[in-house]
Amino acid sequence: MKELIVSDLVTDYGHVRALDGISFVASSGEITTVIGANGAGKSTLLRTISGLEKAKSGTISWGDIEITNLAPEEIVRSGIAHVPEGHAVIPTFSVLENIEMGALFRRRKNSSDVKAAISEVLDLFPRLAERVKQSAGSLSGGERQMLAISRALVSRPKLLLLDEPSLGLAPLVVEQIIQTINHLCRSTGLTVLLVEQNANTALAVADHGVLLALGKVASDQSAAAMRADSALRSAYLGY
Ligand SMILES: Nc1ncnc2c1ncn2[C@@H]1O[C@H](COP(=O)(O)OP(=O)(O)O)[C@@H](O)[C@H]1O
Ligand SMILES: [Mg+2]
Repeated sequence: MKELIVSDLVTDYGHVRALDGISFVASSGEITTVIGANGAGKSTLLRTISGLEKAKSGTISWGDIEITNLAPEEIVRSGIAHVPEGHAVIPTFSVLENIEMGALFRRRKNSSDVKAAISEVLDLFPRLAERVKQSAGSLSGGERQMLAISRALVSRPKLLLLDEPSLGLAPLVVEQIIQTINHLCRSTGLTVLLVEQNANTALAVADHGVLLALGKVASDQSAAAMRADSALRSAYLGY
């Protein structure tokens, strides 16, 4: 089983150092949550893993391959799917067309295989199954997030990178989405890297937590230990 190993990762935006020597492991079949304040470097971390930003130094390995600075489409082909911040879907495309786009970079593409993958993701999100022909722009925020996740899952990834799926959504919808991810991880062995500003929500389902502060790892321990660490909670998480 593959694990993701990030070692000493540094990513800059011009003169701004966004990731300043990040190291951690996301174990296979587990949910690892990356938490931290706005600006801590969470999105940059996901974007560097998926090849959207270039690492200045350090390495990212996934199973037995090193993926540091590979092209984004090669990283998708290695079994990694990224759901970016902000429920990015194409509003003028239908729900189904948006999901189909996620199948473009599948390793083996035959149409019956793609159909099976689409029907699997629609089973996970019945609300979307009822709305396949509707335009993505007509969906609620929660449905758009489900769609963005479905589009990632249709590539049948082994590692799912999720950037703040709860942002701007009602607590009940967040709970549904997080529980669906949790179920998927437990039932299929999917490895999940879940970025959240909402630490409570994320730590409740995660196995492991990595706390980022100003581009560095401030804490790296089991989610249970992090939940129990009141000094850490009051210093970094504000509760
Ligand atoms: N495109 C960019 N250009 C310049 N600086 C950026 C860019 N994106 C992010 N940053 C900076 O990098 C740091 C980390 O940002 P980000 O990874 O988005 O944090 P988070 O997702 O934890 O809120 C911040 O200081 C942010 O201002
Ligand atoms: Mg972010």
